Amino acid sequence: MAKFYGIGVGPGDPELITIKAVKTLQYVDIIICPEAKKDKDSIALNIVRQYLKENTEIIFLTFPMTHDKEAVTSKALENSVVIKNEIDKGKNIGFITIGDPMVFSTYINLLPHLKSKGIQIETIPGITSFCAVAGRVNIPLCTKEETLGILPLMKDCFSLDKMLDDYDNLVIMKPSHDSAKMADILEAKGYSNKFVLVSKCGTEEEEICYDIDRLRKEKVHYLSTLIVKQSKV
Ligand SMILES: C[S@@+](CC[C@H](N)C(=O)[O-])C[C@H]1O[C@@H](n2cnc3c(N)ncnc32)[C@H](O)[C@@H]1O
Repeated sequence: MAKFYGIGVGPGDPELITIKAVKTLQYVDIIICPEAKKDKDSIALNIVRQYLKENTEIIFLTFPMTHDKEAVTSKALENSVVIKNEIDKGKNIGFITIGDPMVFSTYINLLPHLKSKGIQIETIPGITSFCAVAGRVNIPLCTKEETLGILPLMKDCFSLDKMLDDYDNLVIMKPSHDSAKMADILEAKGYSNKFVLVSKCGTEEEEICYDIDRLRKEKVHYLSTLIVKQSKV
């Protein structure tokens, strides 16, 4: 029976990918590229393109980025039918996802539908964006008895204040959702020089920022992650 592989491709640098992921990319018949809208421009595909066989088929499937749970579920269900049809034809499928598949990924929306169809699934972990960011700036995420919180930033920065109080170290993902308000909260709570933001980590357009004012004045890219610490970074 053909198999479905959820493949973590790392955060951006094509060398930050596991050997297992590369071997699987070279083995599968079809690569599925999730996209938020139909533009055929995929960061994940750009990372893995050099590893694919010449005749690998590429299928783009849309997974809308919305808080409308019904829309998310019905699209995931629809996409799982496309996948099942290919599996039934005997095609091995690789679903590529940035970073690790189990961290804030469309893969997570798809999994229950694949499981309910009895599809054989193997998840191949990837290097998360926040591990890559910490490595890039040589700043530890946590050590000894320290705690680490991970916050996907929402519009209005829901939970940010509390998580700053509750954790020794914080990873803030999706900071573009409300970067100006986030900067205000960080400053008000004394974190102006206790954070680093890395955008497009591991790519040619990578940017590293320690300046709180830039978070207010400039547009923060969607592919950005902050590390916030109790001590000066
Ligand atoms: C949908 S989540 C994907 C997370 C991914 N599965 C992971 O394991 O890191 C998208 C968020 O991941 C982070 N991210 C992904 N790639 C990144 C990169 N190259 N540089 C900085 N942050 C990145 C950003 O916070 C972005 O808003």
